[in-house]
Order: sequence, then structure tokens, then C-alpha cells
Amino acid sequence: MTHKKVTAAITAVGGFVPEDKLTNADLEKMVDTNDEWIRTRTGVEERRILRADGLATSDMVVPAVKELCEKRRISPEEIDCLIVGTVTPDMVFPATANIACDKLGAKNAWSFDVSAACSGFLYTLTLGASLIESGRYKKVVVCGADKMSAIIDYGDRATCIIFGDGAGAVLLEPNEEGFGVLDSILRSDGSGCQYLHMKAGGSKKPATIETVMAKEHFVYQEGQAVFKFAVKGMADVSAELLERNNLTGDDIAWLVPHQANKRIIDATASRMGLNPEKVMLNIQRYGNTTAGTLPLCLWDWEKQLKKGDNLVLSAFGGGFTWGATLVKWAY
Ligand code: UT7
Repeated sequence: MTHKKVTAAITAVGGFVPEDKLTNADLEKMVDTNDEWIRTRTGVEERRILRADGLATSDMVVPAVKELCEKRRISPEEIDCLIVGTVTPDMVFPATANIACDKLGAKNAWSFDVSAACSGFLYTLTLGASLIESGRYKKVVVCGADKMSAIIDYGDRATCIIFGDGAGAVLLEPNEEGFGVLDSILRSDGSGCQYLHMKAGGSKKPATIETVMAKEHFVYQEGQAVFKFAVKGMADVSAELLERNNLTGDDIAWLVPHQANKRIIDATASRMGLNPEKVMLNIQRYGNTTAGTLPLCLWDWEKQLKKGDNLVLSAFGGGFTWGATLVKWAY
């Protein structure tokens, strides 16, 4: 008897963005910048900010996961495992995924966080798919979520203009018809830490009055350096993924790119030979939500996706971490 290969199909998508908007006009009042510069250099027009006191990343994960459970008509108790990609956990520990499971009533799930910055969703997607492919788990939820406003210095015009808050999640289930996560190339290079990190609050430099005064609990980014690595990294790995699957741009229905900067997205699409109509772009509305960007694209485009569409998800970010994943849409 031959067994069909089991793949992990995405069977539902959920998302959440806070209602509060931070527009380019708002930022003009906060730092020395202007709408024209932000639009042309990044593509961002507004971002969403989770403002209310006491709300955290898990409070965006929960509505995103609830939505996908409702769409798929399952109870959170049916979830076997929840993985959250984030660099803005509710607390250093326990994991945001643990807290979210409690709030969801996902009593039968084991859960943990993955720290891979902007590649957080790609990493959790491949990890979750492997759990399904192993045959041991039937319903795995992977989530990308970040409350970037918690770690952004709104006096630093080089970083505050791009980032925003948001979360997205997908349900993975076994499939024997060849749909779902088909291939993935993931990379990391810790020597990139120098260009993009948070200086204090970890075990290397625990929080003190001095670290707070020196503004070391915010994102530190050397934008130009990251930009150069991102353009090359995201384009290279996306092209490599096409090549090793004997695909060309014509075979791809959608590029689902990390929304860090529209210029990085354009470079990746052009390298893959894709015209702009095939590129998901919502950076103008949400900015860069770090691990949230890819699932929020799927959330926004879900109705336009057709069964059998080939999608390439691609990201580059802190670590450095980067990668590209090929998904055949299942519904
Ligand atoms: O998602 C995680 C990974 N992160 C990324 O992929 C981000 C990659 N980097 C970027 O997207 C871009 O580097 C930024 C959007 C962060 C910055 O854009 P840039 O085109 O690289 O700007 P720059 O840092 O080279 O600065 C160019 C000029 C400078 O002025 P001078 O020295 O030429 O007079 C800056 O001071 O633009 C100035 N500038 C601004 N002007 C108005 C920097 N930020 C601003 C601003 N408004 N907000």
C-alpha cells in the first residue's frame, strides 16, 4: 500500500489590527519629517497602534485566532499547538503563546514563541508545517504578531515612521492532495545583529535607570545597511526558491512580501520577473508590523485567492533572518 505524502495546508486565516491610526500627518507633528518623504522613501501612509493601557501582543493574537476558529468552525480546544512569532512578547517570560492559549481557552494546545523578528511568520509556518507533516498533530496554528509601538522611540524619525502594530494567524491541517506548504528556504546570520537590535533589557544588559535614560529599550536600526542586505537577501532567496522548484514568475499567482519598505518589495518582485499586480502590498495602511506583515497580507487578500494558486512568501529582518516559502493555496 502506498501512502500519499502529507502536506500542511492553510485552511483558514485570521487577523487583527488596532483601530487607532497614526498617520504621516500625525508624525509630522512629532518629529522633523514630512508625508512626501515617508511615502516616497518607504510607501507607508498610516499605521495602527495598540494604545490602551495594559494591552499587549497576546491581545492581538487572541482575536486573530478566534477569527480563524470561527471561519473553520472549530473550537479553540481543538488546536493541538499554537506558535507565535514575535519580538514584542507580553513579557520576557512566559511565552506570549502560553498567555494567548489561556485567554482563548485553547486548553489542549502546547504553545511557545519563536524569535525571528520580521521572518517570525515564515519560521513558524515552516515549523508548524513540519509538525503536521510528521503526522503527530492535526491542527496547528501559527501566528505572527508584534506590538512594535512598545519598542519604538517616537522621537527617532528614522524608525518611528515605518513600524506599526498588528497580528495575523493561519490554521494548518494535513492535506493529501498536494496543497499547502511545499518548500521553504530559511536562513539566519547573527553577524547582522549589529545593524538591528535592542540594546538593553536582555541578559547582556538588564534594565537599569541608566539604560532607560539612554533610550536603550527601543529598536536600534542602521536603516541603510539593513536596506542593502534586505534587497539582496529577499530577492536572492525568492529567486532560488523558484529555480529549485522549476518555476518562473509566470507560475506564481502572488508574491507575499514582508512589508518593510516598498522599495525592497519592488526589487524582489522585479528580480522574480513578477508584474506589480501580482504583489500583495498593504504597507501604506499598516506600515511594518514585523512578524505580522505576511499573515496580514493573506488576511487582506484571502477572498481573492483561488484554490491551486502558487504563492511565494518572502521576508528579511532582524538577526539577520530571512527566507522564502512556496505555498499552494488550498481553498
Ligand atoms: O523590517 C525589518 C528590516 N528593516 C528594513 O528592512 C528597513 C530597511 N531600511 C529602510 O527601509 C530605510 O533605510 C529607512 C526607511 C529606514 C530609511 O530610508 P533611507 O532612504 O535609507 O534614508 P537614510 O537613512 O539614508 O537617510 C536619507 C536622508 C538623511 O538626510 P541627509 O543625511 O541625506 O541630509 C536622513 O537624515 O533622509 C533623512 N531622513 C529623513 N528625512 C525626513 C531620515 N529619516 C527621515 C524622515 N523624514 N523620517
